[in-house]
Amino acid sequence: MNLRGIAAGILSKVIKDGQSLTFALDLALESVKDSKDKAFIQALCYGVIRQYHRLDQILQQLLSKPLRNKDTDIKMLLLIGVYQLRYMRVKPHAAVSETVAAANKKSWAKSLINAVLRKYIREQEGLEKKVDQEVFSLYSHPQWIINKIENDWPDQASNLLLANNCQPPMSLRVNLAKITQANYLKLLAVDLIEAKADPRCSTSITLKQPILVEKLPGFSVGLVSVQDTAAQIAAELLDVQAGQKVLDLCAAPGGKTAAILEAAPESISLLAVDIDESRLHRVEENLQRLKLKAKLLVADAAKSAEWAQGQTFDRILVDAPCSALGVIRRHPDIKILRRESDIAALITVQKQILDVAWELLIPGGILLYATCSILKQENEGQIDYFLSNHADATEMPINVNWGIKTTVGRQILTGDSGMDGFYYAKLAKNI
Ligand SMILES: C[S@@+](CC[C@H](N)C(=O)[O-])C[C@H]1O[C@@H](n2cnc3c(N)ncnc32)[C@H](O)[C@@H]1O
Repeated sequence: MNLRGIAAGILSKVIKDGQSLTFALDLALESVKDSKDKAFIQALCYGVIRQYHRLDQILQQLLSKPLRNKDTDIKMLLLIGVYQLRYMRVKPHAAVSETVAAANKKSWAKSLINAVLRKYIREQEGLEKKVDQEVFSLYSHPQWIINKIENDWPDQASNLLLANNCQPPMSLRVNLAKITQANYLKLLAVDLIEAKADPRCSTSITLKQPILVEKLPGFSVGLVSVQDTAAQIAAELLDVQAGQKVLDLCAAPGGKTAAILEAAPESISLLAVDIDESRLHRVEENLQRLKLKAKLLVADAAKSAEWAQGQTFDRILVDAPCSALGVIRRHPDIKILRRESDIAALITVQKQILDVAWELLIPGGILLYATCSILKQENEGQIDYFLSNHADATEMPINVNWGIKTTVGRQILTGDSGMDGFYYAKLAKNI
């Protein structure tokens, strides 16, 4: 079993077939037993996807003629080879020989990989300097994402683009119904897992190094879940009170559903809606592990006539489908799979879902709008527009020590206090 060969197969699925990295990786890793091998393949795949635009540019300088489309696997091996030489602590001779070996029976490919990687070793310094001159290879992002980020956040753009290429921290949400943050930190310390409490969120703990969830004390019995601090904040902001009816729109895979249920009194009822049935199964699995209860419904949130049946709600979370440009560091394949043309369609769906949700909210109720985006059109622009069209809506202040106050709502920029890029706006329906 050649680990680089497996990684090349996974990368081809993303680059050529447009599969998501997590999907392609999970499927391929099912047949890999050793946890170190799994970790190595994962590091190669995430690393190459993070640096794809840069590595591709370097490769173009190294090849005398482009590879044919049908040779995607070989191209992926070349990128893997350069990635190891540039970013990993693999010894150069091992990086070259193992990558060459992964080309299996294709002797032309073996010679090509050998020659290209050796050329890279010889010319590395000059090549790296050359690709630094193009912004898209310097930051390893498609130009359209760079343009949007520079347009919305001119002062923070460089930091944001760099943060997108960093490995994110692993954060945990402590189930305060079962254990305190301080006591969970003690459990981690017993197992020599270094971690610290997050001062911005009463449930959050960030680990110094990511580890397998099975190694987390009490994970199987629901003491903790894995969730970025920025996402955990939703539960606090929604502020659910005893006996209230809660609607969680666009709920899958259920991270915020579970956070809300853990934080709320048992007397509440929660309906979680998502359009994607397979993703909704993951909500079910999450709730089962945590022994939490909610009604789950596969439905289009924007078509409430088909499912709401006259129900109204005291609290509504709209965790809208979005560009996800705030979570590129967790899902670097967004840089490859997302198209600029998707944004307008997403903004339209967000508008539709917001309008429908508002109809289902009781006067005096609260709607929390959330995205994992940093684009103003999806965030403050969207809510500005909403407020100008809904005279019965009032923005509620979010008085916290995280993020940036925007014209309306609050923006967390990727990497700010270690968090994912997120946006929240809290709206009250006038009585
Ligand atoms: C940002 S994710 C939600 C994350 C989730 N709230 C959590 O915390 O785990 C957006 C979700 O919106 C769902 N979605 C997209 N369009 C939808 C629609 N029209 N109606 C309902 N759900 C939709 C997607 O299937 C996806 O699961």
